[in-house]
Amino acid sequence: MARKFFVGGNFKMNGTIESIKSIVKNLNEAQIDPNVEVVIAPPALYLLLVREHLSNGIEVAAQNVFDKPNGAFTGEISVSQLKDSGINWTILGHSERRTILNESDEVVASKTKVATEGGVSVIWCCGESLEERESGNTISVIEKQLSAVSAKIGNWKNVVIAYEPIWAIGTGKVASVQQAQEVHAAIRKWLKANVSEQVSAETRILYGGSVNGKNCKELAKEEDIDGFLVGGASLKPEFVDIINSNL
Ligand code: G3H
Repeated sequence: MARKFFVGGNFKMNGTIESIKSIVKNLNEAQIDPNVEVVIAPPALYLLLVREHLSNGIEVAAQNVFDKPNGAFTGEISVSQLKDSGINWTILGHSERRTILNESDEVVASKTKVATEGGVSVIWCCGESLEERESGNTISVIEKQLSAVSAKIGNWKNVVIAYEPIWAIGTGKVASVQQAQEVHAAIRKWLKANVSEQVSAETRILYGGSVNGKNCKELAKEEDIDGFLVGGASLKPEFVDIINSNL
């Protein structure tokens, strides 16, 4: 089965009602490649605003979700609340949450389990720091992250993997096409050996880290790069060029 190209836009903690409405208007009016699945992730406060105004077949994702059912968890949002609001996706395991909010591999895995079992699809992020890359540990770090999530989830159908080298995020230092393809191929190999041939063949693996309207086309040509998770550039009109990088 061919893997449908996927482009996610992670707004992170950026935007205002006005600026987000303008991004949504731009996306609604854009000519978008029909062979691409597009999902945007505004801050939680704006999820409903975006859901209400967004069209063009674009879906909305949360940037995080909690792994407990509704209850006394101040500041958190549940999977059932996302579903109730028509939000069918969430990002999980972004390196900013892993490093700044101290989310461990196990916490990320637990959230991924609860989200997928509750009917919310997951853009599951992994990636190495510069220090880990320079010490030759890139693949082992990612395999450890994969092992933790694989131990908790049985169904990979609603999971998209985003490989995001931490040193490339928001730095303007995009991974080279070879660096990205090498890690993507290693992830696919790991899935084949440790999950199944089918999951390895069907799971989309996105690249994230300083993707922009200029560098996206080269990256998109690679065999194992099935799309992008875009931060900074998803707030700009060039996000449409990234969505259309295969045209
Ligand atoms: O989630 C998106 C990534 O962290 C990439 O961010 O495109 O601003 O480098 P960036």
